[in-house]
Formats: sequence, structure tokens, C-alpha cells
Amino acid sequence: METLTYLIYLLSAVLFILGLKQLSSPKTARRGNMLAMLGMLLAIAMTLLDKQILDYTYIIIGLVVGSGIGLIAARVVQMTAMPQMVALFNGFGGGASTLVAYSEYLSRLQDPALGFELNVTITIVLSVLIGTVTFTGSLIAFAKLQGLMKGAPIVFPGQQFLNAVLIVAVIVLGVMLAMDPSLEMFLLVILILSAIIGVTSVIPIGGADMPVVISLLNSYSGLAAAMTGFVISNNVLIVSGALVGASGLILTNIMCKAMNRSLFSVLFGAVGTDDSTGTGGEEQRTVTRYTAEDAVVMFGNAQSIIIIPGYGLAVAQAQHVLQEMAEILRKQGKTVRYAIHPVAGRMPGHMNVLLAEANVDYDLLYEMDDINDDFQDTDIAFIVGANDVVNPAARYKKNSPLYGMPILNADQAKTVMIVKRSLGAGFAGEANELFFDEKTMMLFGDAKKMITDIVRVLKES
Ligand code: TAP
Repeated sequence: METLTYLIYLLSAVLFILGLKQLSSPKTARRGNMLAMLGMLLAIAMTLLDKQILDYTYIIIGLVVGSGIGLIAARVVQMTAMPQMVALFNGFGGGASTLVAYSEYLSRLQDPALGFELNVTITIVLSVLIGTVTFTGSLIAFAKLQGLMKGAPIVFPGQQFLNAVLIVAVIVLGVMLAMDPSLEMFLLVILILSAIIGVTSVIPIGGADMPVVISLLNSYSGLAAAMTGFVISNNVLIVSGALVGASGLILTNIMCKAMNRSLFSVLFGAVGTDDSTGTGGEEQRTVTRYTAEDAVVMFGNAQSIIIIPGYGLAVAQAQHVLQEMAEILRKQGKTVRYAIHPVAGRMPGHMNVLLAEANVDYDLLYEMDDINDDFQDTDIAFIVGANDVVNPAARYKKNSPLYGMPILNADQAKTVMIVKRSLGAGFAGEANELFFDEKTMMLFGDAKKMITDIVRVLKES
């Protein structure tokens, strides 16, 4: 039986790795997801057959409640709320690791026969630390993304000093506990301090830097699971946790590159902490309002068009009609491509998922670095619900939360069309000068409605 368990766990690990590999391309992502799901199913089934389980009552209750919540969340949660859901799931992963490690600690405490090897105590402390930081940090990220908390950085004097003190305290307590595992209260204090670290380390991060935090918390949740795998000697948990940890770190690195930030500057608040000069809400200056008819006239004279989707496309659910518009223009012989900024939307790959849903050909999607030099030879940059990712303030405004982030060079196109509902700012709260550029045509309205109108006029003309 033990050999079979190891073999099935090995098969699960292989499926996770193959799944991850396939997730790296939109073309194979669905299959990758299925493979990873199969791996997880096998791992869960094998774990449930474990001979150490004496009573299935609580396990069945947990399975039913957990599956029920997952099923409802998958059906009810809107696509636009996915980032918050992912943040919550990261947090729950971390919280689960803490609970498992803590209960293992308590059962070893109660049963002297089990004892405490040094490696077990160390991994218990690490599981509780990383798991709890992930849990509370993810709750803060959730609150920021859900708009329950202000998205801008929350800073107070001595914050970094407090964080440093808390971390040193956890290390000292952890070492003492490792030396004498009977110091029961110490683990509880470690848990409480870790919960505070999670909060104080995520509240100062805001503006445009949330993508980095979300990826990092994702990585933490994997590391916590891997540590818990060591605590309960479960190989598949170690492997899957390590895979999540490593892929989360790779994603964090990609997000840092996309934002042109070092991880250090994001975590320790050197960037984007001064939000005071961003005008935030509505602009007072006026711009000319253009219509769907005006847009179609401009399209008539254009040969090359680059579409820039942003978070507003997801809000409006305008991806299908956008695809229809692009196809009509392509049939007219125009070159139509999509430019994808790595942090457009609210989660990594958000725009890719959205456009895949509308069956946009992957070959038409271009990453920022592959298309940014082409804007200067492009007739129209068509911006749909994007704001921060085309905001020129990122290039020159030193006290902007966006400063230093590479943007799509939409402003270099001959004409810029922007579909959004108002002159309001994007996620980072920074006003956008591009709206007032003389070559910019503002097409005010809900993206779905405006593009539906454009499609109608295109069909009529
Ligand atoms: P944003 O800067 O958030 O701008 C989205 C724009 O969409 C808003 O200015 C809004 O303007 C418009 N909009 C909203 N609903 C609309 C609708 N129904 N129809 C038309 N327009 C609508 O988006 P972005 O350019 O994609 O940039 C993403 C931002 O989110 C970056 O700052 C990024 O750092 C941050 N972020 C990203 C992630 C990841 S991982 N991608 C995670 C967290 C945060 P109106 O209100 O005027 O319509």
C-alpha cells in the first residue's frame, strides 16, 4: 500500500509539473488546468485512503462544505471579481497550512511518544509564520481589490521599524521554541505576531504595485504548504507547495519587471508612497466628446490599428463585441492587433483570459515589448477601458505611484481613441494627460455600449 501511495503521489507531482508547463501558453492553458486538477484529485483520493485516518466524519463535513463553497464561488463570482477571489484563496491556503502545523504541534505536545525532532519544530514555526502572514496579508489584498479599503498606500511613522521588530521577535521566539518545544504559549505568540506582520507589510503597498503583492502572496501560500508537508511528512504536499512557491516567485519577478521595480522597493515602500499629488477622481478640464460615427470615419481612413484592452473591458464585458469590431475591420483589409500590458486588468493574464473567452486569435495578441516600437507607425491606438497602462505620467512624474512603470506607447500613434465612461483616474489614482492630447478622441460611455454602436455603424456604412 505504501508503495502504491508513493507511486500515486509521484504521478500527481508529474501531472502538476506538466500542468504548469502547459499553463505557460494560452493555447494549452485549459489542458494544463485539467492535468493539474487530475493530479490534485489523485493526491486527495490517495490521502483519504491513508490508514492513519480513524474517523471520516469531520473529513466528509470539510469536503462537503469546502466543495460547496468552491462550487458556489465558481458559479456566482463575476469575472471582474476573480482577482479578489484568487487573493482569498491564497489566504485560505496559508491559513490551512497554519492550522495543520498548529494541530500537529498540539498532538505532539499531548503525546510524548511522538516527540519533537528539531526539523519538525522548525518547520512548524515556519508553517505558522508564513501561513499566517499569507492569511492576513491576503485578506488585506482582498479588501483593497474589493474596494473595502483604500487602495492607496497606508503608512505611519515607524512602520518599517515595527515590521523589523516583529520579524526579529518571531525569529527569537522560534529559536527558543525549537530549543524547548514545550513552551506552548510561544507558538501562539508567533501566530499573533505573524498575523500583524501580514497586515503591516501589505497596507503600505498600493497604487499600481498590487500585482507584485498578489504574486508574492501566492508564492508564500505555496511555501507555507511545502513547510507543512515537512511537518506531516507528506511528499506530495512538499512537491506541490514547492511548485506553487517557485512559480509564484517567477510570476513575482515577471510583475516586478513589468512595473520596472525591484522587489525590495515594492516591499519596503520606496515607490509610489506619495499619492497626494494624483488628482484621483474627476478632472475639471473639458475635452471634446466624440461619437461612434466619428470613430467609424477615422477607422475608414486608417490602415493599422492597435487595440489596448484594460480593466474596463472586463467590467463592461465588452470582449465579444470588441472581437466582432476587430474582425469587421480586418475583413476591410486593415491590420488589427492587440497590445497586452503585463499588469492590465486586476490579475496576471487577465486580458489574455478575457480575449480568449471571445475567441480572439492568439496570434493577434502582442506583449508590450513586442509591439511598443510599432505605435509610431500606427494610425489608431484604440484604448478600451485601459488607463494606468497608457498613462504618460509613468514616464516623467516622479511623485506618481506609476512612476517608472513601462507603459504602452499609445501616445505615439497618429490618433488615439479612448473608450471609457469619464475622465476619472485608473487604479493608481493618477490623472491621465493623454485624455487632453489634441490627437486624442474621447469616446465616453460604457465600453460594451460604445463598441456595439461602432459595430452597428460599421455594418451600416
Ligand atoms: P485601470 O487603470 O484600472 O483603468 C480602468 C479604466 O476602465 C478606468 O479608468 C475606468 O474609467 C474604465 N472603466 C471602468 N468601467 C468601464 C466600463 N464599463 N466601460 C468603459 N470603461 C470602463 O486599468 P488598466 O489600465 O488595465 O491598469 C490596471 C491597473 O490595475 C494598474 O494600475 C495595475 O497595477 C493595477 N492592478 C493590476 C493587477 C494585475 S495582476 N493585473 C492587480 C491589481 C492591480 P471610467 O470610470 O471613466 O469608465
